[in-house]
Amino acid sequence: MSSHDPSASPSSQRSATPLSVDAPVLELRSLTRTHGTGIAEVHALRGINLSVHTGELVAVMGPSGSGKSTLLTLAGGLDTATGGQVIIEGQDISALGRKGVAALRRRSVGYVFQDYNLIPALTAAENIALPRELDGVSVRKARKEARAALEEMNLLQIADRFPDEMSGGQQQRVAIARALVGDRRLVLADEPTGALDSETGETVLALLRNRCDQGAAGVMVTHEPRYAAWADRVVFLRDGSIVDQTLATGADSLLAAEGAK
Ligand SMILES: Nc1ncnc2c1ncn2[C@@H]1O[C@H](COP(=O)(O)OP(=O)(O)OP(=O)(O)O)[C@@H](O)[C@H]1O
Ligand SMILES: [Mg+2]
Repeated sequence: MSSHDPSASPSSQRSATPLSVDAPVLELRSLTRTHGTGIAEVHALRGINLSVHTGELVAVMGPSGSGKSTLLTLAGGLDTATGGQVIIEGQDISALGRKGVAALRRRSVGYVFQDYNLIPALTAAENIALPRELDGVSVRKARKEARAALEEMNLLQIADRFPDEMSGGQQQRVAIARALVGDRRLVLADEPTGALDSETGETVLALLRNRCDQGAAGVMVTHEPRYAAWADRVVFLRDGSIVDQTLATGADSLLAAEGAK
């Protein structure tokens, strides 16, 4: 487009999908995911609507099998929806293609898997540095960031250990450090405290909270009201639907809300 084109407004030159300040970092619209067909059909998600803005941490709670991990994998572009839309930083990811989604994921999404997903042949520091290197950061800078992230988790002493030389809690914290390095705008964490004692769990939640306060948007699955109390909002899932949303005003009110279901 030439600069003399009279139809070229400043905003149309900037970006195909300009992102307003108030636009959510993550938006799920009528999201559905169905597995199998016929008698084996499972409706893992049945029309989820959810927006998460910069600065927000949203906790997702609900019984086993209610669709929490499914929601997170779809939100992170790791699985494809049966229906509806996933919009990350203003982009409908279904329009991006596989390579485009992979690039967006590396650049914008930090993901903590329920089962950690560390690469067995890489050390703690290498696991954390790898996604950054894949995204074009120099090896030197990525390694430096990795060590800083490990230090934040009080794990510098295991930087050169391989996953099978770490405890479950250490592996989980390395997985969290991997999701928090860089300036990813969206952090998705699936039960990030499952293997941690309560003190370490609180430390991890404080880091996650801090990351959101500094400009990320976060979604965290948890079974623990005391961790959900760190969130701005709690979304309750049941059988693939959001059945309630509450402000996280403290662990006691969350326990009461859960008990009432
Ligand atoms: N690949 C799959 N094939 C068939 N069904 C699946 C598949 N993945 C998930 N499901 C089903 O979808 C539903 C939601 O599963 P999901 O893993 O999202 O639950 P969850 O809330 O994360 O549970 P948990 O608390 O145990 O981690 C469950 O009924 C599950 O059995
Ligand atoms: Mg799960």
